[in-house]
Amino acid sequence: MRSILNEKNLNSKNILLRLDLNVPLENGNIIDSTRIDKILPTLNFLIKQKSKIIILSHVGRPKGKIVKALSLKPIGEDLKKKLNVDVKLITENIYGIKNKVFFERFAEKVLILENIRFYPEEEKNDQKFAKHLSNLGDIYVNDAFSCSHRAHASINQISRYLPSFSGLQLDLEVAALNKITDEITKPITCIIGGSKISSKIDIIKNLIPKFDNIIIVGGMANNFIEYFGNDIGKSIKEKNCNQIIKEIISLSKKKKCKIIFPEDVLVSKNLNGSSENKELDQILYDEMILDIGPKTINRIINIIDNSKSILWNGPAGYFENPNFAKGTIEIARKIIENNKSNKLFSVVGGGDTVSLLNKLKAVDNFNFVSTAGGAFLEYLEGKKLPGITALN
Ligand code: 3PG
Repeated sequence: MRSILNEKNLNSKNILLRLDLNVPLENGNIIDSTRIDKILPTLNFLIKQKSKIIILSHVGRPKGKIVKALSLKPIGEDLKKKLNVDVKLITENIYGIKNKVFFERFAEKVLILENIRFYPEEEKNDQKFAKHLSNLGDIYVNDAFSCSHRAHASINQISRYLPSFSGLQLDLEVAALNKITDEITKPITCIIGGSKISSKIDIIKNLIPKFDNIIIVGGMANNFIEYFGNDIGKSIKEKNCNQIIKEIISLSKKKKCKIIFPEDVLVSKNLNGSSENKELDQILYDEMILDIGPKTINRIINIIDNSKSILWNGPAGYFENPNFAKGTIEIARKIIENNKSNKLFSVVGGGDTVSLLNKLKAVDNFNFVSTAGGAFLEYLEGKKLPGITALN
């Protein structure tokens, strides 16, 4: 992997820069800008080199269609303020842009192409699409570690057609995760939450041999709660997971890794409602699980107290509604407390988790904070990430 930091002669070069600007948006406002702030050094470095920067990024999951609410416009405006240079959003259809000459008409040094996932070819890792993108630049830089587990055109396929480099943030994340996996001390606990169940449930099996405890909270826990014979009402869940859960349970016994999932939960009839504490066998057909309950919190706190290392990815509940933020906040509080007294080495990753820690002004109290969620877990799992393999 060659870092762009060591490259000379970037003057006047068109740099196709893949970033992960997938930040949480609400009515066009950025709720948490951590991912934007983290890539500013790369942008400032390239601006200093007098390169022309063409940013490729996605936000959300528009599934190959134009979704106005998932425009990169607010992100471009935020970048303009933070970089103190003009930033232009290019809304032309990418197929209408024949080659890099197109960009000569713009005085701005930082251009952003509209959400790359508006094109179905992106997620299909389409070769022709990647080749077309490559015509728009001289050099490709991947500074999107948090997307590098996706075999998508602007992450994987594109580097077949251009000299390709890693960006500063990607270098940092990979170096930090390598250090962590080499130096970690046992007992080691992994806490996995969040709502992206499908991206994470397959990973658990491969994590089992590496951990003493795996605590499952968030959306994925609902699948486990249901698997053990409970009704989960309207709660989110992934379909057809019984086989994988069976394998997870069986392997965890063999490898002596404890799998912990909630013993009690907080439910509501809707996302904006108030919370009610329930035992697992009390959930009604019109209720949804939105957080872990007090018994579960105590159990997790106990496990954290008995761990020397913690890796945490994904919130325990729907923390956007404060009635369901307690589980996540209590986990954060305990990790921070033990980290401060040097009892614990802690690593946290994932857009939502980092966003919550920012709200709590607690982000500096962890040994390492990764911007990545799924990519972070897959890297720990020991998988080769398509975005990183392509750079090698
Ligand atoms: C993330 O938020 O983890 C990355 O932006 C990847 O998003 P995805 O899970 O929608 O591929």
